[in-house]
Amino acid sequence: MSKPHILMARAVFPQVIEKLSQVAHVHPNHDDDVWTVPELIERLKGKQGVFTTGGDRIDASVIQACPDLRICANMAVGYNNFDITAMTAAGVVATNAPDVLTETTADLGFALLMATARRLAESEHYLRAGLWTKWSYDMFAGSDVHGSTLGILGMGRIGQAIARRGALGFGMKVIYHNRSRLAPDLEQQYQAHYVSKAQLLAQADHLVLVLPYTKESHHAIAAAELAQMKPTATLVNIARGGIVDDAALAQALKNRTIAAAGLDVYEEEPKVHPDLLKVPNVVLTPHIGSASMPTRKAMAHLAADNLIAFFTGKPLLTPLNPDPRSIAG
Ligand code: 8YV
Repeated sequence: MSKPHILMARAVFPQVIEKLSQVAHVHPNHDDDVWTVPELIERLKGKQGVFTTGGDRIDASVIQACPDLRICANMAVGYNNFDITAMTAAGVVATNAPDVLTETTADLGFALLMATARRLAESEHYLRAGLWTKWSYDMFAGSDVHGSTLGILGMGRIGQAIARRGALGFGMKVIYHNRSRLAPDLEQQYQAHYVSKAQLLAQADHLVLVLPYTKESHHAIAAAELAQMKPTATLVNIARGGIVDDAALAQALKNRTIAAAGLDVYEEEPKVHPDLLKVPNVVLTPHIGSASMPTRKAMAHLAADNLIAFFTGKPLLTPLNPDPRSIAG
């Protein structure tokens, strides 16, 4: 069989391209251009595989326009950019990149939690602006992280890694809400208590969002939910934009409905809601949850290894379709 063609939707480590080149004709995106769906379709036609990142949409229109496509490998754990139903129906395999980024993303979640609670960004901007002329008793006095109540919405791998940091590292009381409850031994391991969403909102001193983005989780945190939180509470979103209503959050931060927020993801990213840029009590990072060099390399290699496995007839490492065996090979 002649070598398949793989499109790289974005630029990636040269070693990954070299590795893929051993099994396929690789079409790199050296300039790291971000393509619209029609631009992607134009390049993907006639190719059998695509390497995507979380920002590259593979929807039903792409699947329909690219009948030669057989596999899409996402260099991300989240896959709300994929229409899995359309892919499965068309016999296209989908894979993601879980596990390798769990601890790194949990680290960033904790960094945002601490930066938000202790007002790091606000106080650094103040210092850089030359406004620091004297110490005062309540200057940038925030809230404590140690010993406080950590709320986690979504208790998958990353949620559990955050719970572990909070309970074991900072002596926090961990409460969580999730579609399904953890097994008792896991609850015990993370010292995590299952509560309703209403209890989570009302009791958390620091609330971290780590749930996948779906139709059901769209605006899971909007004005009504923010109003149920403590006025001293902080909110961290390292999951996906769209889970939080950004306009409502900006308003809640302005009115001090909650004390502060730390955000790594946004509804219209890379655009950030202009009202969020105007409030001081929010720490904003540009979707860097998994951005440590070793982890980004591991994610890229995992996506590539899925492509290589598929094209060499080996079992997929991290398949997403409900029953990949029915369509793989
Ligand atoms: C990625 C992420 O950096 O894995 C995910 O779901 O959100 C991030 O780790 C991003 O999606 C690019 O692939």
